[in-house]
Amino acid sequence: MLNICILNKFPDRLLDFYKDFYRDFDKTKINAMISAVHYAVALPGDLLEYTNTFLPVPLDRLDMYAVLPESTMIPHIDRGRKAALQIPLEVDSYNSYTFTAKYEDLSLLTKKEHQYDIEQDVNKIVNAPGFYEWDDNLYDMYDLSKPILQNVSMPHGGANNAKTYRIFLSGNYIKHDYKYLVEAYKDFY
Ligand SMILES: [Fe+2]
Repeated sequence: MLNICILNKFPDRLLDFYKDFYRDFDKTKINAMISAVHYAVALPGDLLEYTNTFLPVPLDRLDMYAVLPESTMIPHIDRGRKAALQIPLEVDSYNSYTFTAKYEDLSLLTKKEHQYDIEQDVNKIVNAPGFYEWDDNLYDMYDLSKPILQNVSMPHGGANNAKTYRIFLSGNYIKHDYKYLVEAYKDFY
């Protein structure tokens, strides 16, 4: 997959730490809607710091995302980050998936008229915005059973066909692009 990189060797010690963190986490804090179908909650700063001690390139930010049951995101480009580290916490891997464009050539995709659901500070925009039509042949899908690096500068999104929330950690790389990170993370494949 060109724009999704599965991290089979993501450190177990960190995954175990997240498992404990999530078990004790007050789920009622997942309440900041950032799109029509998903919520985000900022996590304590020390969780970002601790996470970064394990990673080859430190994240700029770490959030928890919760995608509503029975919802699909329109393929889109993230305005505020170049690449993302996505780490599953509670995902139904049989009934949900993330997806990213298979090819680098965006002219293969059809643009879609749509607005972002939240305002973005213009000083924080790092990618040209855009929404795209879904096309079965042009997206790679992955069930997020393992952590991934995802190129969110390319059209991407997620589908949750489960009756439960789909919950994962989402780390931001604001300046480093995906290709640089794929190289930097090679010990995690
Ligand atoms: Fe996104």
